[in-house]
This record gives sequence, structure tokens and C-alpha cells, in this order.
Amino acid sequence: MPVLPLGELQIGQTIATDVSNSRGQVILAAGTVVGRLHPTLLRAWGITSVPVNGETAGGSGTAGSDSPPGLPDASETSANRDNHPVLVALTTAAARFAEKLGTAPAKPFIITVGKGGPRESAKPGGPPISPETIAGKAGNLASLPSVYTRLEKTISNPSSSAADITKILRNDQGLIARLLRIANSAFYGFPRRVEGLEEAVRIIGTRQLHDLVLATVVLTQFQGVDAHLVTMRSFWRHSLACGIAARSFATLRRESNTERFFVAGLLHDIGSLVLYQLLPDRSQAALERHRNTTLSLEDAERATIGCDHGAVGSAIMSLWRLPEFFKDVAASHHYPGHRRHTTGTAVVHVADLLALSLGLGSNGEVRLPRFSEEAWNLMGLAPECLDQVAEEVVSHIEEAEKMFVGDDVPA
Ligand SMILES: [Fe+2]
Ligand SMILES: [Fe+2]
Repeated sequence: MPVLPLGELQIGQTIATDVSNSRGQVILAAGTVVGRLHPTLLRAWGITSVPVNGETAGGSGTAGSDSPPGLPDASETSANRDNHPVLVALTTAAARFAEKLGTAPAKPFIITVGKGGPRESAKPGGPPISPETIAGKAGNLASLPSVYTRLEKTISNPSSSAADITKILRNDQGLIARLLRIANSAFYGFPRRVEGLEEAVRIIGTRQLHDLVLATVVLTQFQGVDAHLVTMRSFWRHSLACGIAARSFATLRRESNTERFFVAGLLHDIGSLVLYQLLPDRSQAALERHRNTTLSLEDAERATIGCDHGAVGSAIMSLWRLPEFFKDVAASHHYPGHRRHTTGTAVVHVADLLALSLGLGSNGEVRLPRFSEEAWNLMGLAPECLDQVAEEVVSHIEEAEKMFVGDDVPA
């Protein structure tokens, strides 16, 4: 097995054994086909030589399908080769920010999307349960606080005035305080200080206000949830990082309502919390299956429970009567082309991968989910923008955590 100095490494060669940094974290997994940006990544980690087996690109075979019935096997597409420019750009951005963030990149660095390892057949841990059945048992979580439903109704009525909206919010001092804190943050960057509720309603605008209140009430609602299978801090950190990335991608795409992308990213994995709360044993079994095999988390959930966190998230959002945009994102963020091809699903799909690559929390996933090239193409952005978006996430994540989550969430 030859060990090549970095300068002699050729695109298309295959890494023979795991390449780790000085902290023992795996930077490139065995079997990775060397791509254009890998030497940059290795150099960034101070690695000077790598073991190769001399095979050419395409020699690192892919495993069989992890996809649900009816879906194309993403592992067999070129998009899931480790040297895909987007995956390499994600890894490079993650390496660049790892020191600053103090994150242990660990497994998200190992891009094993749909590759390698033993296969296993689906063995449900009981009869399959539909997402609607699970959402139907959600009790208190099945409805959002009345302040949101009244606001939603008022905003959707064209004859409502700003005074009507103010009247609804006035009685919820906690919500007002949170809205003002968010409106006055650098994260939102309004040109001047927002002093009171009336001004906030006027400056923020009704559409953005709706989305902001939605984010705030959902966060508050789920703060009391006992989701011991994942720490709440880690869950919200991941969700916020995804939201910030989604908003940043939307800005680059010149979307008109970028806040909606932020909230869609924030809520994309909400089905995980519902599952962890209502089906802890089967969720635990799904998490273990994901961690101990090559199955993605959503595939492990389907095999163990009968549906995945995306479908459960979408089902609970139906009970909340949220707009289709949010339901689509939740349902399809792992398979953007499956149900409906929308900009929202594509943007949040990539934002999710970026948040996980940066090691900023997790909903329980320990590897990057499958990457959809279709989603990436739909976004119409260049891979170079990933570094810029990563920078945006890294510079806002702490402030966003303080604003939306606060210090009262268990670590
Ligand atoms: Fe997810
Ligand atoms: Fe996620």
C-alpha cells in the first residue's frame, strides 16, 4: 500500500485507510475517491501524506439501495461520490470553521452517504405506525398556542389592520419581549431600534411577523418536551444552524421572503422531537440502527417505526394548519424531489447538510444524509457559496441560540 506525499496525490486515486488529523478525527474515510478539493482539505488539517491503493475513480463500489420504495437509489448517482464538488466544498468549509467553533467534526466529516458496510433488511420493531396516527396522539403538542392561531386568522383576513394584530399580541408579555429582542438583534439587522409592539408590527411586516411568531411559539412549546434521546440544546443548535443557512441561501437566490426559509429550516426536523416524545423505545431502536449500520436515520426510522421524522413533522404541521411550504420542507427535506419539487425543500436539504457538516448539533443523525444533486441544481448556486454561507452560520449561531433558545435549555 503506497503512502503518497500530498503533492503526488492524483484525482481519482482511492484512499486505502482512514486518514485522521492530529486529534484522531477521521478526515477522509477509507475508500474515498480523491477529488479536486481533497488536497486543500488535507493541507488545512496539516496532513502531508496519505495511503492510497492506486485504484482509479469509480472503483469504490457503492452499496445497494437505502432508498424507500419508489425512489431512485441516490447512492448509485454520481452525486454521492465523495469527490462531488458540493460534498468536497462542504467538507472543506467544515474543516475551515472547526477550530473556530471548537466542534468535534467526527462522523459528519466522514461522507459515507449511501456507501459501504453491511446491508440489512427491514425489521420493524412492531407494527408500522402511520405519521397521522403518531401526530394524532401528540396531546398538547397537537395544537399551537391560541395567540398564534388568532394571529394567523387575523393576518389572512385582508380587512385586518395593524391595530388588530397588536391587540392579539398585547396580552402575551413573554412573546412581546422575545419579539423585540429578536427584532433588535444584529441577526435581523433592522436599521433602527424597535422600541414597542406597534412599531415592531409596522417595521417587521405582517408576513415576517407571522413567521417569527410561529418560530417563537413552536420553540416555547417544545422546550418542555422530554426528548432524552437527543439533548434539546443539540437539537435546537442544529435546527437554528439549518435555518440560518437556509435564509442565507435564500438571500443569495434573491428570494423575496427569506425569513420563511429561516423558519422552514428551524422546523424541518420537528418530527424527531414528536417521535422521541411519543415513541421513545422505537425511536431509540431506530437511532441505534442508524448508528450501528449504514442506514440513514430516516431509513432506519422507516424500517423500525414505519415512517420517518419528516413525515411525522409534516403530519403535525397539518394539525397546526401551517402553510404548505413548511409541510413540504418537513416531509421532503431528505428527498427533495420525492413529493414535490420546491425551492424550499431544495434549500433546506442543502442547509441541513451544511449544518451537520459544521458539527453544529444534530437531531440524532451521526452521518451526513444522502445528498441530492437534483436539489443542488434547483438552487442554481455555485459550490463556492457554501463557504460564504458557512461563515454566515458560524457568525450568527451563538446570537441565534441566545435569542431563540435562551439559557434555560438543558445542555
Ligand atoms: Fe431530517
Ligand atoms: Fe436536520
